[in-house]
Amino acid sequence: MSRTTTTAPSSPLMATYPPPPVTFVRGEGSYLVDTDGRRYLDCLSGLAVTSLGHAHPAVADALATQASTLLHVSNLFGTEPGPEVARTLDRLVGDGEPAGGQVFFCNSGAEANECALKLARRFGRGRAKARPWPKRPGAVGAKSGEHVRGRHVVVSAYGSFHGRTLATLHATGQRAKHEAFQPLPEGFRHVAWDDLDALAAALDPTVAAVLLEPVQGEGGVNPASAAYFQGVRRLCDERGALFMVDEVQAGLGRTGRWFGFHHLGVQPDVVTVAKALGNGVPIGACWARGDVGAVFRPGDHATTFGGQPLATAAARAVLAVMQQEDVPARAARAGARLTERLDELPAVAGVRGTGLLLAVELAGHDAVEINADLLAAGLVANAITPTALRLTPSLLISDDEIDVAVDIIAKVLGGATTP
Ligand SMILES: Cc1ncc(COP(=O)(O)O)c(C=O)c1O
Repeated sequence: MSRTTTTAPSSPLMATYPPPPVTFVRGEGSYLVDTDGRRYLDCLSGLAVTSLGHAHPAVADALATQASTLLHVSNLFGTEPGPEVARTLDRLVGDGEPAGGQVFFCNSGAEANECALKLARRFGRGRAKARPWPKRPGAVGAKSGEHVRGRHVVVSAYGSFHGRTLATLHATGQRAKHEAFQPLPEGFRHVAWDDLDALAAALDPTVAAVLLEPVQGEGGVNPASAAYFQGVRRLCDERGALFMVDEVQAGLGRTGRWFGFHHLGVQPDVVTVAKALGNGVPIGACWARGDVGAVFRPGDHATTFGGQPLATAAARAVLAVMQQEDVPARAARAGARLTERLDELPAVAGVRGTGLLLAVELAGHDAVEINADLLAAGLVANAITPTALRLTPSLLISDDEIDVAVDIIAKVLGGATTP
C-alpha cells in the first residue's frame, strides 16, 4: 500500500494558536511560574477562567478527594454532586432566590451555547405546532415536502463571540472568523450591537431566540446598556422569542455581580456559563427557565462527560468559595481600584468594562507590542484590539497585587515610544 510522504511537522500540535512565547509549569494565587522558574503576575486568568487564582486549596482538595472516590459514570446513572451544583446555579441566576430553572452540564462555553441553540429550536418547533405557520410563498415551510421548521433563527450581535463549533461560530457575529468554514449551518442573523431598532427590524416570526453577551468580551470588552437589555427583553416578550444571555466570560462574579445581566435589570430565559465554573477544570452549563428546559426529552441532547463527578466536584468547590467570600463584591471593589489607578496613567486613554472584565485603551501605543513588553516584564495580559489590552485577573487579586500590576504597566508604557 502506498503512503503519501510528508515532511514531519515542526510541532506535534496543530497551529491553531500562535507559537507560545512562554511555557508555564506552575501557578499559585495570582502568580504563574515558567520553565525557568520566573514568576509572572497573571492578569488574564486563562482568559477569565481561574477566577479564584491558581491552585486554590479548596478546588485542589475537592479534585483530589473526588479523584480517589469516583471520576466518571455514564449519564444513564445518577451521580453527585451535579444536581447540587445545578440547584446552586439556579439560585445564583435568581440572585439569591430559586429561579425555577433546569441545568444541562457540558464541557465548555461553546457546548453550553450549542445546548442553548438546540433548546431554542426545540422550543420554537413546539410553538410552531401550537400556532401553525403562515404558508405564504417563500415562507418557511411553504414549499411542498419541506419541514415546517417554525421558529428556528437565532439573532446575535456583530462583535459577539459565542464559540468555535460550526453553529456557535455562525452565532459569533464576526464575519472574518466565518470565511474559511463556509457553508455554516443556517438559521443565524446578526444585528448591530446595543441598537434596539436594528434588533426590532430583525425579529420576524422565524426568530426563536436572541443570544447576547452582557459584556462583549472577545469583541473588545463592550458592556451592554441597561436600556438595551431591557428593550431586548420587551421585544422578545412581544414577538415570542427567547432571550438567551451568554455569561461564559462575564458570569460568576467577574463583573462584580453574580451575572452580567444582574446589572441590567432583566431576567433571561436561558443563561450559559463555563470558564470560571471549574476554575480551570473543563465544565460548562446551560440554565433554562423551567418550561424552556422541559422541552428536552431523553435523547434530544447529551454529552459523555457532561456533569461527571470530577468536574462538578470542582464546580461545587468554586461556587462554595465564591459564596463564602462574596467574591462578586470583592471583584467589584478590586475592579474599581484597578480602574482608578489605571485611569491615572498618562499613556492610558481610558478604561472600559465592568468589575474585573476590563479593557485598557492605550493612548497611541500598539497593544500587541505593549502586551509582549508586559510579558517580558512579568505581567500576563492580552491585546484585545490593536489599541487595547484586556485585563481579567483573579477575582481574589489583592490590593498589593493590583498595585504591582499598575506599576508594571506604568513602567512599560512609560518606556515605550509612541509611533
Ligand atoms: C462569551 C463567550 N462565549 C463562548 C465562549 C466559548 O467558550 P469555550 O472556548 O469554552 O468554548 C467564549 C470564549 O471565550 C466566550 O467568551
